[in-house]
Amino acid sequence: MYKYYNLKEAVLTVIDNNDLQACSVHLTEDEQAVEILDQTRLPGAVEYLQLKQAEDMYDAIKRLAVRGAPAIGIFAGYSMYVLALHSDIAETWLFLDKLHAEGEYLISSRPTAVNLAWAVRRMLATADGLRDKKPAQIVEALKKEAIAIHQEDIEMCTRISEYGLSLVKPGDGILTHCNAGPLATSKYGTSIGPVLLGKERGIELKVFADETRPLLQGARLTSYELFKAGVDVTLICDNMASIVMKNGWVQACFVGCDRIAANGDFANKIGTSGVAILAKHYGIPFYTLGPRSTIDLNCPTGADIPIELRDPDEIRTMWYEQPMAPEGVKCYNPSFDVTDHSLLTAIVTDKGIVYPPFDENLKKIMED
Ligand code: MRU
Repeated sequence: MYKYYNLKEAVLTVIDNNDLQACSVHLTEDEQAVEILDQTRLPGAVEYLQLKQAEDMYDAIKRLAVRGAPAIGIFAGYSMYVLALHSDIAETWLFLDKLHAEGEYLISSRPTAVNLAWAVRRMLATADGLRDKKPAQIVEALKKEAIAIHQEDIEMCTRISEYGLSLVKPGDGILTHCNAGPLATSKYGTSIGPVLLGKERGIELKVFADETRPLLQGARLTSYELFKAGVDVTLICDNMASIVMKNGWVQACFVGCDRIAANGDFANKIGTSGVAILAKHYGIPFYTLGPRSTIDLNCPTGADIPIELRDPDEIRTMWYEQPMAPEGVKCYNPSFDVTDHSLLTAIVTDKGIVYPPFDENLKKIMED
């Protein structure tokens, strides 16, 4: 049995593969609400939120209380079940209409990570397939589907971590950007999954975690997870990536992804493309790691990926005791950027490591 990173205890422990409660997103024990570890409160406080209303679910995604592409997908699956469970509509077609409206509403909370729409649509397809049944039977099927999405993510993260670990050797330095660990997924995570899996097997890797302006997912979350797990992690500001590469401390870059287009271009946290350009300059392999639910073959290139723009006050005032920019100054705050596929060494998926040509090879792994 695998050891997993147990978020409730914030340590590596042996737990049952099916212990979904140990993940950052899960159902409450009475299965009446979806429970999340509030990522906006870390690292200062470990607090859980229980959600039943569509507006609260929308808000949790929007303000990043739940974040990271796979975690948002898992959250969307459970949310759809909880919304269906509490629906008071007895007539199936009206029940389904309301569920569709709520699903579209959740999808509209954040545009970039494809896992959100993917999970909502998968839940709606399950419900639609039972349109000749009573709402109670549909609710039961939705619970099963949401749990399946979660369990599949655990399996996918485990496989991604195995493949990722095969790309490095003991003592290597890995640079990562944003947070694609257990908080953003389930169990090991994606980009830092190989590090946690390695740790468990006695293979020590060193991690340089970009702090990731402006919302500091690297400082608040990645360094928290790795530090708690006893990994050798060094937090750096985003503008220090070049010097650690130049010093020869980085043997590979591992980053997550929010949407991978059919040609291998991919969206990830703002600043990722700069890391990829630096890695190319220094001759360091650059990998993105993600489950197949993040691959969007309907999106031909990175230019077709919608990029979320966020509140300028995240740059101007958030995190500071005093404003750090003149009031009203113009700010540009895109939440993601697109890394060109030409900068990517490979894409590490749950189905294997995909090398160029990405357009051909991504299609192949999605067909299997
Ligand atoms: O805005 P966020 O924090 O949701 O952005 C998250 C990222 O960009 C992650 O790297 C990505 O979702 C992969 S998570 C496994």
